[in-house]
Amino acid sequence: MIKIAPSLLASDFGALRNDVIAIEKAGADWAHIDIMDGHFVPNLSMGPDIVKAIRKDSGLFFDCHLMVTDPKMFVEPFVKAGAELITFHAECVEDMDSLIDYIHSFGVKAAVAIKPATSEEVLFPVLHKLDMVLVMSVVPGFGGQKFMPEVLDKVRNIRAHEHGKDIDIQMDGGINAETAALAAEAGVNVLVAGSAVFAKPPYDETIALIRKNAEEKYNG
Ligand code: DX5
Ligand code: ZN
Repeated sequence: MIKIAPSLLASDFGALRNDVIAIEKAGADWAHIDIMDGHFVPNLSMGPDIVKAIRKDSGLFFDCHLMVTDPKMFVEPFVKAGAELITFHAECVEDMDSLIDYIHSFGVKAAVAIKPATSEEVLFPVLHKLDMVLVMSVVPGFGGQKFMPEVLDKVRNIRAHEHGKDIDIQMDGGINAETAALAAEAGVNVLVAGSAVFAKPPYDETIALIRKNAEEKYNG
């Protein structure tokens, strides 16, 4: 099933609560929340207190994408703040297996993200215990970048190795109504869209168009 996850990074931070409420009304499935530490990526975004502040106004599934060097440190604070899925990056974790177990011990879902330069093969040893993988289609750190179509083959290869598990595959970076179709055709079913949604009100039309284009191409 296709899920649309607007990235709050592109929302109006001065009116974050309103934007979170607006995307839910506009038909979003998830809120994608980008957490940046100024070290793993050269940008800072938001901490657990901000997530907690918007949690009480939203029934959306909260998807926290940790772009931080020490993800383990932040699992508990973000779960307590309301995260329902924690995604960490493969590039900064040696023992992914244990970190996945640690995330699951809080009763939330666990995902691993890979940057465009990272091979999808690093995911294969832990694929059986993951709820989702995130294939980045831009270099993480900033919204509004151009989609990198060369990452689509990774998605096809992950689908070929999932052994009927039907894992969620998320794509993040440069997703709009056109690139969503390409991603879905390759096997992506969770689409993150930041600037494509927030730069173009009304949000419901953009979300519906991304969903329609993806559903037409998704073969899962
Ligand atoms: C990039 C973030 C993305 C970003 C996507 O590091 O992980 O979630 O907000 O923004 P767009 O959709 O504008 O590329
Ligand atoms: Zn993200």
